[in-house]
Amino acid sequence: MRARVAFVTTVLAILAPLSPVRQVAGQEPASLAPYVPTPYAVVHRMLELAGVTSDDVVYDLGCGDGRIVIAAAARFGARGVGIDYNPERIAEANANAERRGVQDLVTFIQQDAMQADVSDATVVTLYLLSSSNRKLRPLLTRQLQPGSRIVSHAFGMGDWEPTRTDRFEDDRGTTRTLYLWRTDGTVRP
Ligand SMILES: C[S@@+](CC[C@H](N)C(=O)[O-])C[C@H]1O[C@@H](n2cnc3c(N)ncnc32)[C@H](O)[C@@H]1O
Repeated sequence: MRARVAFVTTVLAILAPLSPVRQVAGQEPASLAPYVPTPYAVVHRMLELAGVTSDDVVYDLGCGDGRIVIAAAARFGARGVGIDYNPERIAEANANAERRGVQDLVTFIQQDAMQADVSDATVVTLYLLSSSNRKLRPLLTRQLQPGSRIVSHAFGMGDWEPTRTDRFEDDRGTTRTLYLWRTDGTVRP
């Protein structure tokens, strides 16, 4: 299992600099992770771990094709916001939301996740890198209301111990690890 996690971490870290937006200091957003979509079975498990209901507002930072917030809207009636810096991902996400008939529940924004306003989120989902989660930690813990949930696929958040860890084999036999944190109002730099 450790070897698999190490492999995924290494692949994501190697691919990160190849992401589509050029990095120019002070101008372009830095890549937090390359595009690797979360398999649908794992998406559903992430939403279950967070205990998403129709009362929730689910943000996915680095939303890719929008599948996490679209699934939260389609399965639970939750509202959602997906943020991705890549305009192609945002176009795909909007098309997918229309296809699933949830365009009134979800919004996709082309933006650097490091500049996001997540203050109305009750759930934040992440599939980035450990280093990226760590960079987002001050923003998340400063902005989120106490009792909000953060769920990360595969990667932790530095020395902030998760409230729960869910390790399982997905439908392809791949071991997956999900981390859940429940915010308590403590700002974690
Ligand atoms: C590993 S993919 C995860 C996609 C989706 N969350 C999922 O789980 O299927 C990471 C996504 O983060 C996006 N991304 C990387 N750096 C970003 C940044 N600075 N701001 C916003 N999005 C970013 C990439 O374009 C990519 O779509």
